[in-house]
Amino acid sequence: RYLRDDDMPQAFQDLLSSLPLEEDWFPSLRLYQGFWFPSSLLSGIFNCQNHFQAYLSDILLVTNPKSGTTWLKAILFALLNRAKYSNSDSQGCHPLLTQNSHELVPYLEHKLYLEQENPDLSALASPRLLATHLPYSSLPQSVSDSKCKLVYLGRNPKDTFVSMWHFTNKLRPEGKGQIPIQECLNRFCRGVSPYGPYWDHVLGYHKASLEKPEKVLFVTYEQMKLDPRAHVRRLANFVGCPLNEEELRDETVEGVLRMCSFDNLSSLEVNKSGKLWNGLESKLFFRRGEVGDWVNYMSAEMGERIDGVVDEKLHGSGLKL
Ligand code: A3P
Repeated sequence: RYLRDDDMPQAFQDLLSSLPLEEDWFPSLRLYQGFWFPSSLLSGIFNCQNHFQAYLSDILLVTNPKSGTTWLKAILFALLNRAKYSNSDSQGCHPLLTQNSHELVPYLEHKLYLEQENPDLSALASPRLLATHLPYSSLPQSVSDSKCKLVYLGRNPKDTFVSMWHFTNKLRPEGKGQIPIQECLNRFCRGVSPYGPYWDHVLGYHKASLEKPEKVLFVTYEQMKLDPRAHVRRLANFVGCPLNEEELRDETVEGVLRMCSFDNLSSLEVNKSGKLWNGLESKLFFRRGEVGDWVNYMSAEMGERIDGVVDEKLHGSGLKL
């Protein structure tokens, strides 16, 4: 269902062969515009950068992989569609109960522009809710030029790393065994991880959120966990669908949070046994869903190593993750 690299224009073939390759990470990564992208997604990135036309009303959800994208997509989808599914009858057929949030909020480079060079996205319901892992500096020009909104979800690097290590192991071909965590850590600390360097990814969006607060909202997984109610309100305000007085009094926010909770989503049949557009099992996107789970997989020294590298890179930015 995907475009093959061979079918892409010559300009892409020339570009691809010129990019540094990191084969040891599964799947392999290529260095492009200062970031390590999964090789298999480069055609989607190239097409998206060349063709995506942002609308003023677009809402783009952005994350580093394994930062809680599945959760953020579910919350924004539920918030934007709450009027449609507000009465108890329609709650029973809420799309989030039968479809994974990655199907409801598609990725640009990972789905839409990987399947077609220039898909027609004009018929998508407005506001279009889309997602990407692209770094700020690699966004399509029309996104930077337009006043569309970007919501960025950051996450503690140690938890992001451990989540990524688990996910990468699950993607490995059968019989290949686990990648030793130390090996993965060495690469992560060199900046080599999908869409990494991790710190450049978060810094790009953090800086943009300070410079253009009306365009970029920077939230963290940990903040959302700590005070989910306040952050649902913050998200709703930012994307232009604030909760009204009545919704603030009734169970609307609690309903969104309950629907999108790890326990609820991970127990749904679609997320236990379903598959995504790319053949990946939906259950891979639900593991523990906790803050601080890294301590169960890394020594204190390994944790300090990540902190050391990340703190140094974030120094002076005002950002602490
Ligand atoms: P862990 O591996 O730490 O459990 P992404 O969606 O960006 O791929 O990130 C996946 C991480 O988000 C996983 O973290 C996963 O368990 C967690 N997650 C998925 N759904 C969640 C939810 N509804 N609430 C909180 N965390 C969730």
